[in-house]
Amino acid sequence: MSLKQRICPSILAADFTKLGEECEAVLAAGADWLHVDVMDGHFVPNITIGIPVVRALRARLPDAFLDVHLMISDPDQFAEEFIKAGADLISFHPETSFHPHGLIQRIKTAGAKACLSINPGTPISCLDYLGDDLDMILVMSVNPGFGGQSFIPSALEKISKIRKRFPSVDIQVDGGIKVENIAKVKEAGANVFVAGSAIYKSEDYRVTIEQMLDQVR
Ligand code: DX5
Ligand code: ZN
Repeated sequence: MSLKQRICPSILAADFTKLGEECEAVLAAGADWLHVDVMDGHFVPNITIGIPVVRALRARLPDAFLDVHLMISDPDQFAEEFIKAGADLISFHPETSFHPHGLIQRIKTAGAKACLSINPGTPISCLDYLGDDLDMILVMSVNPGFGGQSFIPSALEKISKIRKRFPSVDIQVDGGIKVENIAKVKEAGANVFVAGSAIYKSEDYRVTIEQMLDQVR
């Protein structure tokens, strides 16, 4: 089975003074999903955006796929609120949930796709008893908290181990992805690629997204 290769711009690197336009621009330039980085200043050392922004994006972009990456200490409390606001997919970190299996079930019951996000230092044994229920597995290739960090190479080995174990699940990679390294990440087994600064800090979003897709197709 061949999995679709998807490019997901992280809006964290967008110009927040014109966020709606910035989202429309990457979608018009060929982006597949909008990656929304939610940070609470507790699980990670940064505070970004939350439920009202997801609601506003959903209202402005009814057809966009909103991939919501929760880097918050209490996804058990807030995941369903994000889905009500318009999230199509929820990623959460296993360290943050008291009941990860139950949360995956609740996310799916609420009508969204469920994804577990694995930090650089988190072993893939966290997928035991959870992996088969997931729509996607997110391998963090930086420590979560900030855009613009350098790719951590051990993510490659982690991705290839996960790909062997779960041949048909979407594997997303997030952090430090650029035109120059996306091919080796794909080679390792990822098929969904988050890129923040590499797209939003580039001169031409379309050219950058096309260059990325050329590398992975
Ligand atoms: C990091 C976030 C990433 C980040 C990606 O905590 O989860 O999505 O914004 O940004 P770049 O592509 O600039 O590393
Ligand atoms: Zn992210």
